[in-house]
Amino acid sequence: MKAHTHKFRNQFFISCSKGLEEELAREVQNVNPKNFLVTKGGIHFEAYPERAIELLLHSRIGSRIFKKYYEFEVKNEKDLYQFTKDIKWKSIFTIEQTFKIVVTQSPSSKNKKHSKFKNTLYLSQVIKDGIVDRFQRDCGKRPFVDVKNPDAIIHCHFSPNDNPYSQKEVVTISLDLTGAPLSNRGYRLPDAKAPLRENLAAGILDLLDWDGSENLIDPMCGTGSFLFEAYIKKNKTPTNLKANKWLRDNPEKIIWNFQKLPFFLKDKKLIENFQQTFQTALDKPEENQKSFILGFDNQAREVEKTQKNIAKLELSNDIEVKVGDATNLENPFSTPSLILCNPPYGQRISATSTDLEELYFQLGENAKKNFKGSRLAVISSEIELLKCISLRAERKWTLYNGPLKCQLVEYPLH
Ligand SMILES: C[S@@+](CC[C@H](N)C(=O)[O-])C[C@H]1O[C@@H](n2cnc3c(N)ncnc32)[C@H](O)[C@@H]1O
Repeated sequence: MKAHTHKFRNQFFISCSKGLEEELAREVQNVNPKNFLVTKGGIHFEAYPERAIELLLHSRIGSRIFKKYYEFEVKNEKDLYQFTKDIKWKSIFTIEQTFKIVVTQSPSSKNKKHSKFKNTLYLSQVIKDGIVDRFQRDCGKRPFVDVKNPDAIIHCHFSPNDNPYSQKEVVTISLDLTGAPLSNRGYRLPDAKAPLRENLAAGILDLLDWDGSENLIDPMCGTGSFLFEAYIKKNKTPTNLKANKWLRDNPEKIIWNFQKLPFFLKDKKLIENFQQTFQTALDKPEENQKSFILGFDNQAREVEKTQKNIAKLELSNDIEVKVGDATNLENPFSTPSLILCNPPYGQRISATSTDLEELYFQLGENAKKNFKGSRLAVISSEIELLKCISLRAERKWTLYNGPLKCQLVEYPLH
């Protein structure tokens, strides 16, 4: 191992959608990190692996968690090959396992310089050669690449330093512990029309300070992202609802990539802790909060599909969905509610702008009339449509639903 290779111990990075870093920081703080650093799009933190795994199970905002292994500086591809070959890869993943390399780049910390390496495909080939040659030396054979379903996802991040005279770039080698992103909660229907990203829906509940004590009503619920996310937040349940069901029946089932990696498999205590944390979280008696999670949609077919999905996940006692028109809903509750929705934008669901203007206007009028004492919050990419809601906004946020810049607006209903 080269003297100037830095080896990490218990260092992780959790990524998230831009704009949700503060909400993510709150989640990271829950696992008592020793150190943490918030950056654009994610957080670096130091924690015991069991706490990082706990975060992976429970994070509603995060996208992926990476375990950091090594960091070194390279001038050119020759250096990269040599540094990669110097790593004892067989302690990171086994010869029988498949792997894939993901190369990412970011500008220097002061944004002064961009990576000089233009061909990321070539970089990944150089890294692959280093890995394969090291395995060949240590084990007499090589592991194979599988880009579709690899056991080990090796993440290599390149970033130049700010020194204008330096040719060097910092390379950080991490393993993706997640596999499928954490936003895959197992409740998304494959043909969802214009769903909100799950972790964005979760972040919106946090921004609006919804803590489960108010009812949550989504009057245009579609596949029900806000409803499922409200259930997860209210019950503090591990976020992968499908995995919760599977792991209850078979604790050995592999859902996340970390379950295949030596750092986990060689540590009996870590496995026990994982299973225990998981079971405790699942067995936890539900808090007796007298609030309800309710959705409406005016498309009977959508409602039926969402209802079926709720039933499949055994959540019919917790989430209710009915056919209804957002512009003439009656208030079914005597206690305050957060009425939260993501109406059609026009860009993603075809509708004329006058129809949509009327829809946004009537949504506001109905909320004003029938939901006094509650609050309404609407997220849309169309500022002009949001202006059709004739209520005074109390708070506003700019957020991104994938590439779409959106505004979330909250209106108190006096
Ligand atoms: C952008 S989608 C909502 C997606 C949803 N947030 C999700 O995660 O699946 C808008 C939804 O509003 C519904 N909708 C449109 N007009 C409506 C109305 N007047 N009343 C109730 N639902 C309506 C559509 O059927 C569609 O499912």
